[in-house]
Amino acid sequence: MKIKTTDIDNINKISCIEINNIDVSIKADANIDELIESRFWPEAIPSALIASDDAKVRFRSKTIIRSYVGNVTGKKILDFGCGNGYCTREAISAGAAISVGYDIKRNDTWDEAQPSNLSPAVIDPILTTDFDEVLKYAPYDIILMYDVVDHINPNEIEDAISKVISACDYKTFVKVRCHPWTSIHGGHTYEKLNRAYGHLLLSDEKLETYQSKYVNKITRPMATYKKYFEEFTVLNTVSHKSLINNELNGILKDKTIIDMIEKKLGGDKEWQSMVLPIEFVDYLLSRK
Ligand SMILES: C[S@@+](CC[C@H](N)C(=O)[O-])C[C@H]1O[C@@H](n2cnc3c(N)ncnc32)[C@H](O)[C@@H]1O
Repeated sequence: MKIKTTDIDNINKISCIEINNIDVSIKADANIDELIESRFWPEAIPSALIASDDAKVRFRSKTIIRSYVGNVTGKKILDFGCGNGYCTREAISAGAAISVGYDIKRNDTWDEAQPSNLSPAVIDPILTTDFDEVLKYAPYDIILMYDVVDHINPNEIEDAISKVISACDYKTFVKVRCHPWTSIHGGHTYEKLNRAYGHLLLSDEKLETYQSKYVNKITRPMATYKKYFEEFTVLNTVSHKSLINNELNGILKDKTIIDMIEKKLGGDKEWQSMVLPIEFVDYLLSRK
């Protein structure tokens, strides 16, 4: 893409940018898609932090179990929304007595033979889409929901809550890690297009070329979390500050762009201070 600008050092004057010789005035929203794709749009997250290959994805699971979940020795673990099931397997490697991974959809990786040095499991984890199978091992000592709540379709949240509660007793710890209300790297657009707020600013048609329809409806996860967590006793909440500079910068400071984000968020003006500095929010829940 050919990009010309009359003032490259002052890129927040977006009306100066020309893409393919078209003057990109954000008032005409027609070219926002192209502008986001341009190299002048800030990245959502540094590429080094994206788990882009299998080894990094496995390493991520190891750190989730060893440092986020903690000691699992002899415990019964439910990895709710387990995705590839690597955390479920890692829990067994770390000494869990039983580790069950549940997801609404099967993942191809569930059938893969695991390299023995990465998952020297003495027993196999159970990976299933059948919640009755999950309940056979309930109650669990720990239920992990890592990066799951913000991926649940709002219509399915109540069903998911009651499933989690049915797998608990009063000694179960439910550990939830989620992204805040919305974030600079919210949405999954960055897997194919690593651009901040892409999920909020791209047109629906364009978004669907980068991510599934299923995910892009969910732009305000915190609004749903609060209701969700009222079903539990909240034992602890921790917000993690972002390691990256989440200040609005460059093009993102443009008032027209800020207005577009706020419009997408239903007119909310608080989002910058609420959201930008926070990378993750952790909840420790127990059954009421
Ligand atoms: C971003 S992935 C996270 C996977 C895994 N926890 C991890 O961190 O690697 C979100 C997962 O939530 C699952 N999910 C979405 N809605 C769900 C629901 N209602 N019940 C169970 N899992 C769900 C998705 O299928 C997906 O695998």
